[in-house]
Amino acid sequence: MRARTIPAAVFARRRRALMDRMGPNSVALLPAAPEAPRNRDVYYPYRQDSDFYYLTGFPEPEAVAALIPGAPQEFLLFCRERDPHMEIWHGRRAGPQGARERYGADHAHPVVQLDEILLPLLENRERVYYAIGYRPDFDERVMDWIRQTRAKARTGVQAPVTFIALEHLLHPMRRRKEVEEIAVMRESAWIACEAHRRAMQMCRPGLMEYEVEAEFFHTFLRHGAGWSYPPIVAGGENSCILHYTENSAELCGGDVLLIDAGAELDGYASDITRTFPVNGRFSGEQRAIYELVLAAQKAAIDKVRPGCHFNEPHDAAVRVLTEGLIALGLLRGDAEEVIKAEQYKQFYMHRTGHWLGMDVHDVGSYKTGEDWQVFEPGMVTTIEPGLYIPVGSQIADERWARLGVHLETEVDKRWQRIGVRIEDDVLVTEGEPEVLTAAAPKEIDEIEALMRN
Ligand code: GLY
Ligand code: MN
Ligand code: MN
Repeated sequence: MRARTIPAAVFARRRRALMDRMGPNSVALLPAAPEAPRNRDVYYPYRQDSDFYYLTGFPEPEAVAALIPGAPQEFLLFCRERDPHMEIWHGRRAGPQGARERYGADHAHPVVQLDEILLPLLENRERVYYAIGYRPDFDERVMDWIRQTRAKARTGVQAPVTFIALEHLLHPMRRRKEVEEIAVMRESAWIACEAHRRAMQMCRPGLMEYEVEAEFFHTFLRHGAGWSYPPIVAGGENSCILHYTENSAELCGGDVLLIDAGAELDGYASDITRTFPVNGRFSGEQRAIYELVLAAQKAAIDKVRPGCHFNEPHDAAVRVLTEGLIALGLLRGDAEEVIKAEQYKQFYMHRTGHWLGMDVHDVGSYKTGEDWQVFEPGMVTTIEPGLYIPVGSQIADERWARLGVHLETEVDKRWQRIGVRIEDDVLVTEGEPEVLTAAAPKEIDEIEALMRN
């Protein structure tokens, strides 16, 4: 979270919207993310908690936000105090004054005073909104405050009686992106597209996967971004390992290279996968599998529209992939039956997308009861079908399987070690789906032309 591109007024607007939903006589509590030790006295680069950042824009650890709708001071921020010695060694701190002046806190206090100041604020408060179960240390603290408030019952103090998971209110807000967020997500997507283009241009047999990975770090950093998840740079057989992150093998001519890598800019993720031939020319088999995945992806993107529900892109992708696999002889039987028996899962074992936003697998429910979430303008989902045919793949015959007979034959070697995934980030609009990641080539001609240059 380097750049700060979202203005303070946007954070204030979000707090207002949340507090209006919370109603009177309630309090929401949000802790900042803890620092994560890496080894001995070295820490992982700090990443703020997404919910906390969404509401405060405050980038430091050891902070707690309290939102109290209707109170004289509605937004309280507890944070580290300024400390010249610590700041010389470890970097600047906003301090309570900075929290008020730059982050819009109505009141800000040193975090060491949290117990003392927060406890009286919980008295006679009816509802507490808090994301329980993610931070055992903070859960314990919240429970302790409740215990202490209950202990005052005989003095007439009433302790909160209703405890509500904060995400119940907050995550539907985060799922539907505001214009300011969409602008940052476009930028995050553009940076990742630029990195994918550079990777295609520099790729050649004999390079190591990590040399291609370096293009991503280089490009992300040059644009003030970082990664939104560790990049997957997977050549040949590795392209069939969904979450391969070793990135340590040599790239061979004749193999495909699957790269799943996205940027994080100002807390917003992009998530892109492109697959291309290491030597710049698709073989016949690679082309056939690639074209099938691309057709499935286009059919799925076409379902990212208001009124369609979240599972429609997946259903569309599964149908195209299944029919295509049968046509290529990689699955046997009738498409309806193969889909019903989920036999396509042998080559397509993951789902077609997920919400995208501050978290790469972003918050927001997918289903309410039996009903899938219907797309609304402002929602962003990935669309990422794939096919994976590792060495030694066997195909079962669905017609025999129905009779309880498992007849398996090995997939012809020419199809083996081909893993293809094509992933874009798609914004739901009132009209056509907007592919935020369109600047990363995915048509075969475009990829081959870029790799020739
Ligand atoms: N990069 C993680 C995913 O595609 O879901
Ligand atoms: Mn994804
Ligand atoms: Mn991905």
